[in-house]
Amino acid sequence: MRYWLVIPAAGIGQRLGAPRPKQYLEILGRSLLEWSIASFATDERCDGIVVALAPGDPWWPAICARLARPVLEVAGGAERSDSVRLALEALASRVEGDPWVLVHDAARPCVTRDEIDALLAGVAGHPAGGLLALPLADTLKRQVEAGAGPVVVALTEPRQGLWRALTPQLFRLRPLLDALRAAARAGRAPTDEAQAIEWTGLGQPRLIPGAAANIKVTTTADLALVATILAARSAAGTAT
Ligand code: CTP
Ligand code: MG
Repeated sequence: MRYWLVIPAAGIGQRLGAPRPKQYLEILGRSLLEWSIASFATDERCDGIVVALAPGDPWWPAICARLARPVLEVAGGAERSDSVRLALEALASRVEGDPWVLVHDAARPCVTRDEIDALLAGVAGHPAGGLLALPLADTLKRQVEAGAGPVVVALTEPRQGLWRALTPQLFRLRPLLDALRAAARAGRAPTDEAQAIEWTGLGQPRLIPGAAANIKVTTTADLALVATILAARSAAGTAT
C-alpha cells in the first residue's frame, strides 16, 4: 500500500511553554520534527510529504535543508484540524485519484516502522481507514465540576472498550478532505482525523493497537520520557 505523509507542524506548543514550538526542540542533535518524519522518509511506500507550518516559521528552512526528500510546504491554520485540511487541499490539487494519506503529529517522535507496518496492514481492505490507538489501562475518574475547593471524584467511568487515539492515522485523501471541510463549515474542530470521519457517519475507522512509546510531547515530563526512549534506541542501534 502506498501513501502520502501529512505532518501538522503549525502549533506553538503552549502547554510545554518552551522558548520555541516543541517540534523544533532538539534531542540527540535532531529536532522532534525530524525524528517524527524519519521512519516515513526512509519508507519506499511513501510517495511524498506535506508539512503544515505556522506562517513565517523561522526554524523550518534549516531543517528542510537537512531532509533527504523534497517536502511540500503549506501554511497551517488556527486549529490542528485546519492545518491538516489545508495540507490536504494542497495535495488534492496536485495529485490524481484518491491516494491513502497518513497523518502524523510533528510532536510524536517515537513512532516506529513496526507501527507503520501494522497500520498499513490493518487498514488495507478497510475503506473507512483507521488509526493507531492504545486500550486504556488505568481506572478512569471523572472529577466534580471545578470549583474553589480541592478537585474531588464525582464517579468512576467504565474503561471497557475505551482507547486513546494516537497518530499516524490513515484515510483516503478525498473522503478525509470532505469530512474536514464539512467540520470546518459547521464550525467544529475535530481533534483527530478519525473524529472528522466519524462525524460524517459514512464509516467506522479501524482501531489498530499502537505502542505505548508513541508519546505525543505535551509537557516537560513527556519530553524527558521521549529523550530517554530515543537515547536507548540510539544506543541499541534501533533508532531510525
Ligand atoms: N498543530 C498544527 N496546527 C495547529 C495546532 C497544532 O499543525 N493550529 C500540530 C502541532 O504542531 C502538533 C500536532 O498538531 O504537531 C498536535 O497538536 P498539539 O500537541 O496540541 O501541539 P500544539 O498545538 O503545538 O501544543 P499546545 O496545544 O500545547 O499549544
Ligand atoms: Mg494544540
